[in-house]
Amino acid sequence: MSVKKIAVLFSGSGSNLLSILEKLHNKTFNGTTIQVALTITNKKNAGGIKHSRAFGIEPVVIDHTDFTSREEFDKELVKTIKAKEIDLSVLAGFMRILTPVFTSQIKAINLHPSLLPLFKGANAIKESFQSDMLVGGVSVHFVSQELDGGKLIAQRAFDKDDMRLEEFEAKIHQIEHEILPETIVKLLS
Ligand code: GRF
Repeated sequence: MSVKKIAVLFSGSGSNLLSILEKLHNKTFNGTTIQVALTITNKKNAGGIKHSRAFGIEPVVIDHTDFTSREEFDKELVKTIKAKEIDLSVLAGFMRILTPVFTSQIKAINLHPSLLPLFKGANAIKESFQSDMLVGGVSVHFVSQELDGGKLIAQRAFDKDDMRLEEFEAKIHQIEHEILPETIVKLLS
């Protein structure tokens, strides 16, 4: 039996961190135990901090405003992740643009609330809701130097029907909470 260690990086409410902790932490899939060995946030007041603590994991706060450049911030992320010998890093609502300092050294996946390559960037939910498309969806992809641009690993779409924005958003989050843990299991076990 092998143990695979993951790091989860988050900036906000951490509902995706919570779904990873609940569904994967210290659980075994096809002989591989997945352990959330590290959580990192760039926001000292991020809602996700309480979820991490509830599982006995004290999050490492790396506040990007303490650094003079994106590269210096990324260096600290890389150092922290490498020190824990992490097998896979997971960006779960981590709202920072990463430089090659990070992307060239860390194997990472990102969750994005649209059907990439459509609607890259921070307003994906609103833009895909307002578009003429009949479906919305969620993507998981490898992190590369291009923002929201690395190789796709998983996608799931749903019919928009006559949804209001709040319903659309709730559906996105429901799918995110399923697809991200599933993808981590697929990659590691
Ligand atoms: C998710 O919708 C994710 O796709 C986006 O940020 C949100 C994070 O939500 N990039 P949470 O912090 O996991 O609740």
